[in-house]
Amino acid sequence: TQVLSVASECAPLVKTGGLADVAGALPAALAQQGVQMRTLLPGYPAVMAALKGGRQVDEFEDLFGGPARLLAGKAAGLDLLVIDAPHLFAREGNPYLGPDGQDWPDNPERFAALCWVGAHIAAQGARGWRPQILHGHDWQAGFVTEYLRRMQATDIRTVLTIHNIAFIGRADPARLHALRLDPARFHADGFEYWGAISALKAGLIGADRLTTVSPTYAEELMTAQFGMGLDGVMRHRRDALLGILNGIDDDAWNPATDPNIAAYDKPAGKAANKAALRAEMGLPDSEGPLCVIVSRMTHQKGLDLVLQALPALLDGGGQLALLGSGDPELQTAFQNAAQSPHVAVRIGYDEAFSHRMIAGGDAILVPSRFEPCGLTQLYGLRYGTVPLVALTGGLADTVINASPAALTRGVATGIQFSPVDAGTLRNALTRLCALYKDSGTWSRLQQNAMAQPVGWDQSAKQYAALYAEMTATE
Ligand code: ADP
Ligand code: GLC
Repeated sequence: TQVLSVASECAPLVKTGGLADVAGALPAALAQQGVQMRTLLPGYPAVMAALKGGRQVDEFEDLFGGPARLLAGKAAGLDLLVIDAPHLFAREGNPYLGPDGQDWPDNPERFAALCWVGAHIAAQGARGWRPQILHGHDWQAGFVTEYLRRMQATDIRTVLTIHNIAFIGRADPARLHALRLDPARFHADGFEYWGAISALKAGLIGADRLTTVSPTYAEELMTAQFGMGLDGVMRHRRDALLGILNGIDDDAWNPATDPNIAAYDKPAGKAANKAALRAEMGLPDSEGPLCVIVSRMTHQKGLDLVLQALPALLDGGGQLALLGSGDPELQTAFQNAAQSPHVAVRIGYDEAFSHRMIAGGDAILVPSRFEPCGLTQLYGLRYGTVPLVALTGGLADTVINASPAALTRGVATGIQFSPVDAGTLRNALTRLCALYKDSGTWSRLQQNAMAQPVGWDQSAKQYAALYAEMTATE
């Protein structure tokens, strides 16, 4: 099977979050299942630099306001198609935000261009290569199905993966024409969303199949609490929807070979990394658990709850180390909390340091209000860093709560709390400190965590099966 993946970010070339990890990992994981996946990316400066020597396979006279070329080449082990369109993508830094921290005003056109080129490749091929399936990610790939319709390409099958339904890809209806959309489809059963254009909704109604990144989030998407106003659409498309858990890159995240840390393959090996992390963060020794957080700092991630519940951790002799960036108010609040000798905060984005954090922590906190999958709890499992997570989305699907029954049966891998509020988090932190004191139980938790498979094998098989089913029925 030949698949074109359409993505707005892709690790290791350009990343703001987990979507990039998934887009970057899927091609290699799928290759083992006999799927050939090429990835279409916008030609941001970092992508253009990595692609050096790409050959031109197509060109566009006017791609939403300027000329563009389609380049093909390899970078970081990925088989890439890249849109060289300087008027849209030759901008440094975050792929979505300008220097003022706001969305670029022409984001609808920028990612419409991504969709247009994706649809064009699916309809006409690129130098003789043509996919059977176009697999897009999030709202940035939402218009693909509208453009395929316009190009009258009916033989291509489409999948859209929802990584986060909170990002709906909103555009002003005044831009219908500029975005090459059919005004006749701007209505409630089309891509209209509360009076605006929604690129995500276009994909949700148009794609043959929808996937999301965990089975629990698939269910949650159909509820008013999590559906962000699109739960009706999701219920309507129930039969097309499938939850497939994300995996992690288990070469990059392997405690036995990780070049960023003092390597270990047993929980006992954590001690050296913990001492190193304490030293690096200026934390003293303490008899309680060292908790780490590696996260975007947004409302979704529930970090304000950590601030409120922090006394329960500190009273239990625990410590907190945080690496993250985002919402300026949260950043300041954590910097203030770091006045406690047992709290250390680093604001920023640092891949290598994130490995030292996960390797050095006893526990990793992920108190998200919603979490389609979540990756850092998976890193935690692999490194024997016990996850303490909210009972939602992928966090519910990847952690086995240390309930009395699960402890008795020896299967627990972490701690879950619900409903997601400061009170339940406080109790969970108290529970964490107690479990940590009981060293036999704690090391059992760590061993179970480290034994849980968190790679791509299972999920790659599910994607491959989905593609096979989609191409077989035609
Ligand atoms: P989301 O995509 O919602 O941000 P995920 O847990 O799926 O959440 O993915 C987040 C990814 O970004 C993980 O790979 C995590 O390690 C990484 N990450 C988040 N914040 C930072 C940071 N400050 N420094 C380094 N890596 C980070
Ligand atoms: C989104 C979600 C996160 C998920 C990631 C990759 O960013 O917030 O939960 O792990 O996509 O699918």
